Amino acid sequence: MITVSDQTSISRAALILRNGGLVAIPTETVYGLAANALNPYACAKIFEAKNRPHFDPLIVHVSDRTMLDTISDSIPIEIERLIARFWPGPLTVVVKKNTTVPDIVTSGLNSVAIRMPRHDVALAVIRESGIPLAAPSANPFGYLSPTTAIHVEEQLGSRIDMILDGGSCEVGVESTIVKLYDGKIHCLRPGGITLNELAGTAGCEAVLSDKGDIPEAPGLLPSHYAPHAKVILINEGDHIDADETAALCLFRKNNNGGHFAGIEILSVSGDLKEAASNLFAALHRLDSLGASVIYAEIVPENGIGVAIMNRLRKAAAL
Ligand code: TXA
Ligand code: MG
Repeated sequence: MITVSDQTSISRAALILRNGGLVAIPTETVYGLAANALNPYACAKIFEAKNRPHFDPLIVHVSDRTMLDTISDSIPIEIERLIARFWPGPLTVVVKKNTTVPDIVTSGLNSVAIRMPRHDVALAVIRESGIPLAAPSANPFGYLSPTTAIHVEEQLGSRIDMILDGGSCEVGVESTIVKLYDGKIHCLRPGGITLNELAGTAGCEAVLSDKGDIPEAPGLLPSHYAPHAKVILINEGDHIDADETAALCLFRKNNNGGHFAGIEILSVSGDLKEAASNLFAALHRLDSLGASVIYAEIVPENGIGVAIMNRLRKAAAL
């Protein structure tokens, strides 16, 4: 089911997508479950395979500027500046859609979320299929996002037509999602791009709008990215009594003695980027051990640490 990415498999994936099928593709953030964004029947299969509620709109992936212009007729200058700097890369822009985009992609909104991934395999598949691809993260709704082809195989393998293997995802957390609203860049989901970088590049104020203070930001539910085990957040260095039914997801070192179901350290050197790229894989491993609770250390909330804490809080349903 998992296929090595080469020219032959990329061509096969493109054909499956043109024919309305589902293909999991690697991106620099997480693996996506792709379908032809212009075919509502193909997109409906994404919702079915993921068990995803229809009020949660999809991100459309493009390989070049021309493709962007086929789905949106008006890109504000502030957004243009962000695209010029951060594409291809982990930035999703929410802009006005045109009539080419089916309602199922946007959950009936008149805006559409679009990004250009920074991954050779994803770009090759989009280019070769010649169509924009709708692709949410390739996990069952609400569960941990996949950062390897094996994660996809374990969670969705029987429900999709093909999984293209592109190795481990470099960034490891989902893209930063932004929308221009009221003259400001609203960050609807934090990722690796900071508010300072957004403001400096867009030339206007940038604010975090994760709490739903703008009316059109559906799908950002409080509980998300969650393992089966209960997640409890702890401060760095908090002592946890040895417990074989508990697992630890630690930032840089383990101060706890005794046996646990499993222990993961996200970055021994305390590098937040490394921690982000390891986050979901570490949680997947701990969850597969059958622990009833995962204690996860809080990380510093700067840079991509903001995105890590956003995912951990949602995993803990705080
Ligand atoms: O890094 C990523 O963005 C990954 C890879 C595969 O590209 N994709 C991803 O998609 O994380 P997904 O479906 O798991 O998250 C998409 C989120 C939705 O939950 C929703 O909150 C937001 O994007 N979104 C999509 N369309 C929107 C719109 N028109 N307005 C506001 N938010 C939107
Ligand atoms: Mg997702």
